[in-house]
Amino acid sequence: ARPLVIAVDGPSGSGKSSVSREVARRLGLEYLDTGAMYRAATWSVVESGIDLADAPAVAGHVAGFDLTMATDPSAPGAWVAGHDVNAAIRETRISTIVSKVATNLDVRANMLKRQRDLIAAAAAGPHAGVVAEGRDITTVVAPDADVRILLTASEAARLARRAKELHGTADAASVEATRDQIVRRDSDDSTVSNFEVAADGVLHLDSSALDFEQTVDAVLTAIARTV
Ligand code: C5P
Repeated sequence: ARPLVIAVDGPSGSGKSSVSREVARRLGLEYLDTGAMYRAATWSVVESGIDLADAPAVAGHVAGFDLTMATDPSAPGAWVAGHDVNAAIRETRISTIVSKVATNLDVRANMLKRQRDLIAAAAAGPHAGVVAEGRDITTVVAPDADVRILLTASEAARLARRAKELHGTADAASVEATRDQIVRRDSDDSTVSNFEVAADGVLHLDSSALDFEQTVDAVLTAIARTV
C-alpha cells in the first residue's frame, strides 16, 4: 500500500501529542513530535551559552546542530549530539523560552527542512507511513498530507489537562499556576503559526468534551473516512 502521511496540529494541551502517538501505534505508523525538535534546538542553544536575544547567532547554531529523532511511537525521542535530551527538553526552563527560538524565522526554515526529510524517510521506510504533529504541519510542513487534522480544546479544558500533567492535579491553584506559561506560549507561537482556525481542507476536531480514548477514536474514524 501507498505510505500514509497524517498531519495533526493544535495548541498546547489539546492532547495532540499523546493522541497522535497512540494513533500511530494503533496503525503501525511512525510518529514525529516536531515540538520536541524545537525543544531540542532550544536546549542546544542554551547549552552552547548563546544569547537568546542574538537572533542570527541562534539561527546559525540551529542550522548546524546535530539532532537525531526516534520515530517509533512506543519509544519516541530526541538526541542532541548523542545526548539523550528527552527529560531535559520538558523542563520548565525550556518550556518558558522555546517560543523565542521557534519564532525565529531562520530557525523555522531549518526545522522545516529537517521535518520534511524525516517525514519522507518515514514514508519510504518499512512502516506504512507517519503521524507528524505540531503547530504548522497541516499548513506548512506537510500541506499535501493524506489526512490533516486540527485538534483543539477549550482553554479551560487545555489548562486543566496541562495542570494535571505538570502538577498531578487539576485543582484551581494548579490551573492558575499553569495558565501563565501556557497562555503566553500559545499567544507567542500564534504569531508565526495558525493553529487556532482550521485551514482549507483541514478537519477540525474539538476534544473539549472527549476523553483520551474518545479523541483517539475520533481521529481513527476521520482517517478511516478519508483514506
Ligand atoms: O508541542 P510542544 O508544546 O512540545 O511544542 C513546543 C514548542 O515548539 C511550541 O510552543 C512552539 O514554540 C514550537 N513548535 C512550533 N512548531 C511546531 C511544533 C512546535 O513552533 N510545528
